Amino acid sequence: MAHLDAEQELIAADIGAYLARHRDKQLLRFITCGSVDDGKSTLIGRLLYDTKQIFDDQLASLEADSKRVGTQGEAVDFALLVDGLTAEREQGITIDVAYRFFATEKRKFIVADTPGHEQYTRNMVTGASTADAAVLLVDARKGVLTQTRRHSYLAQLVGVRSIVLAVNKMDLVDFDRDLFDAIVADYRAVAEATGIKQWSAIPVSGLAGDNVATRSPAMAWYDGPCLLEWLETVPVETSAAGHGFRMPVQWVNRPSHDFRGFAGQVAAGSVKPGDAVRILPSGRQTSIARIVTADGDLSAAVAGQSVTLTLAEEVDCSRGDVIADAADPPQAADQFDATLVWFDEEPLVPGRGYWIKLGTQTATATVQHPKYQVNVNTLEHLAAPTLELNAIGVAEVLVDRDLVFESYADSHVLGGFILIDKLTNATVAAGMLNFALRRASNIHRQHLDVSRETHARLKGQKPAVLWFTGLSGAGKSTIANLVEKQLALRGRHTFLLDGDNVRHGLNRDLGFTETDRIENIRRVGEVAKLMADAGLIVLTAFISPFRAERDMVRAMMAPGEFVEIFVDTSLEQAEARDTKGLYAKARAGQLANFTGIDSPYEAPEQPDIRIDTGTMSAEAAAEAIIAALDRR
Ligand code: ADX
Repeated sequence: MAHLDAEQELIAADIGAYLARHRDKQLLRFITCGSVDDGKSTLIGRLLYDTKQIFDDQLASLEADSKRVGTQGEAVDFALLVDGLTAEREQGITIDVAYRFFATEKRKFIVADTPGHEQYTRNMVTGASTADAAVLLVDARKGVLTQTRRHSYLAQLVGVRSIVLAVNKMDLVDFDRDLFDAIVADYRAVAEATGIKQWSAIPVSGLAGDNVATRSPAMAWYDGPCLLEWLETVPVETSAAGHGFRMPVQWVNRPSHDFRGFAGQVAAGSVKPGDAVRILPSGRQTSIARIVTADGDLSAAVAGQSVTLTLAEEVDCSRGDVIADAADPPQAADQFDATLVWFDEEPLVPGRGYWIKLGTQTATATVQHPKYQVNVNTLEHLAAPTLELNAIGVAEVLVDRDLVFESYADSHVLGGFILIDKLTNATVAAGMLNFALRRASNIHRQHLDVSRETHARLKGQKPAVLWFTGLSGAGKSTIANLVEKQLALRGRHTFLLDGDNVRHGLNRDLGFTETDRIENIRRVGEVAKLMADAGLIVLTAFISPFRAERDMVRAMMAPGEFVEIFVDTSLEQAEARDTKGLYAKARAGQLANFTGIDSPYEAPEQPDIRIDTGTMSAEAAAEAIIAALDRR
């Protein structure tokens, strides 16, 4: 290609000018969707080859490999260029997203290549979430398929703004115009159903190169751009253009006492010194003093730029806060309607606390039972108790504090989030905020004049939550009862929340599914917290089989207030005792979800106090606990 020779000359003559030109080129991120059968590898390979992105040594080995193992006889098999990936896929090992970089005279490109099958939905969502455009491949002989609809839905879901339907293998259908027109008509219905507004269609042949990097003489009836021209000209929307200024604070830059700057990347709009801004979620208003960068101060900064802002006044502002246009700030809320794509092998556990990361904010979020799941092939809404790997659904997300947000449609930065499992640290879901649920924002905390400190002082004690956990029949209730008696004898103000009792009243609507147990512990945790606020020493006796919920309750209390007491009994011992006859029933199949039998018990890894009931009587255990509490 001519422009490449010119580039070579420029590199030789003025490398600085060459690099500058490259740096200033606009970047288009796009994703290719389709399966190997549609000729995706061949099309990408052809695009790289025709834009001369292949090094001479790669080309030599490509030509050799094509003759040896290729499927195209003596000709070059472009699919081999992207074959490393295919092998990886076939072995079923880590399927991530493959990103490839290339450039032409007009633009730089990052192409994300993900497998097209339904079991790789999460990979496609990952690849598409940062893409400006999507190339949807269909085989001209097969036309629009179920997967075309799925890919369209996913691309639209994550906000890909421009879509091109590449009708491939036109050489195999004699470059038939009517066939192409029929496919375009079919796709129009898909675009309507999935809410896609901006799209075009191009007839191509990846194998022969027709309408890939150059227009095809074989399809003179087509007068639109070739694929490369489309990629070079499709608009790249600078993120959230037209919105007021927003910058999530990544870190506070404080090298000395006389400088305090807030570093981050401008997510939307623009800013200049003197602009009135609001710090969210606090709502404090001030103005911009300086825009600082390593290369000196700027007179303005726009979306995409990383800068450090200093403020005219000393106001509270820390990592996770958002600095925004004072006249048009985003909102803060703690309850949302959101669309989730489940990424993890372990299904969603409704009610469980996950880390939520949104922009630079991190908090704890729980997800309610899905309102519905979307069948990604038919777009039908289905009832679903949870979300499994690759499932997409809509659910309410409750966060433990206010998050500064915008809907995903308005801002990918402040509307897109991920959920992380607190124990494994795995990213379990990607999510898109649809809207805030107003309920909580109209309920404000009421200030109480008699504080928890006053309550504690009046009772002359330090509140605590003594949390007994262990298998059914381990002796939790018996030991907790003895401990409470000892405390009462010493004039302590106590209360014992016992599993069986609470399940007769407050929690009589709950059973023993995973979700019900989580809700059981959440409610008991909240009640224990209220009682501790009232100055009491609270004892609880619940199996509380899951580590995550015990940790959740610990996090609700003041530091040091939560004392985890593991009543450690082997399943054999508990079953041998079988005081309530429930193990026998469970073994006989008359009682489902019984802890230790067909429902798990996650033993504490580092309990504050451990009681071994194999070697200790209930009385000895109670004494040991009192002694341990005295030491604390
Ligand atoms: S938890 O798992 O949600 O913490 P909780 O301690 O409230 O359980 O209740 C456990 C008590 O309920 C047991 O001691 C037993 O008496 C009774 N029970 C009835 N069905 C089950 C079951 N499927 N699994 C465990 N306990 C059960």
